[in-house]
Amino acid sequence: MSQPVITKALIAALKGEFALDWQGIHGAGHWARVRHNGLQLSPTTGAVPHVVELFAVLHDVKRRHDGFDPIHGERAAEFALSLRGTLLHLDNRDFDLLVAACTGHSSGSTSGDPTVLTCWDADRLDLGRVGVVPKATRLCTSAARDPRIIAAALARSRQRSLRETTFFSSCEAHPRKVTSTLHQE
Ligand SMILES: [Fe+2]
Ligand SMILES: [Fe+2]
Repeated sequence: MSQPVITKALIAALKGEFALDWQGIHGAGHWARVRHNGLQLSPTTGAVPHVVELFAVLHDVKRRHDGFDPIHGERAAEFALSLRGTLLHLDNRDFDLLVAACTGHSSGSTSGDPTVLTCWDADRLDLGRVGVVPKATRLCTSAARDPRIIAAALARSRQRSLRETTFFSSCEAHPRKVTSTLHQE
C-alpha cells in the first residue's frame, strides 16, 4: 500500500469522535506510540503494517471514559466498519484483521494471527504511561518480549514522547518516517 492510510480526513473524523481528553492516557499521544511500537515490531512479526497503523488510531477512539470499559474495542470495530469505503480502505482479509485486533485488544489474550498479536503488543508496550511495566509473559510475540524493545517502549511511554503533533504531521507527509527513525531513540 503506497498511499498513507492515516489521512487528514481520517484524523479529523477521529478527533470528532473521541469523547475523552485528546492529551490524556488514551488519547493521541498513546495512539502515536502504539503506532510506533507496532511499526517497529512488524518487520519481525510479519504483521501487515497498514493494519497496525489503523489499529493504533482506532482501538481506543470509542472509549467512554479512562476506566474499565470492556467493550470499547467492539465499539471501535463498529466505528471502523462505518468508515469503510470512505475514510478507510482495506480488503476483506485486512479489514477482518483490524476488527479482530480492535475487538480483542483488552481481553488479555496472547494467541491469534501475527498481525493481531502485533497490534496487541504495540498497545501493551505503552503501559508505562500509567505506571505499569509491561511484563514479557503478557506479551504475545517474541519480538515484543525482547528486553531491549520493552525498555525502549517503557522509556517512550514514561516520557509521553511521540506526541500527536509530530505523529500526525509526519504520518501525512511521510507515512513510514517513524519506522526509519526507530533506532535513533
Ligand atoms: Fe483499549
Ligand atoms: Fe490502547
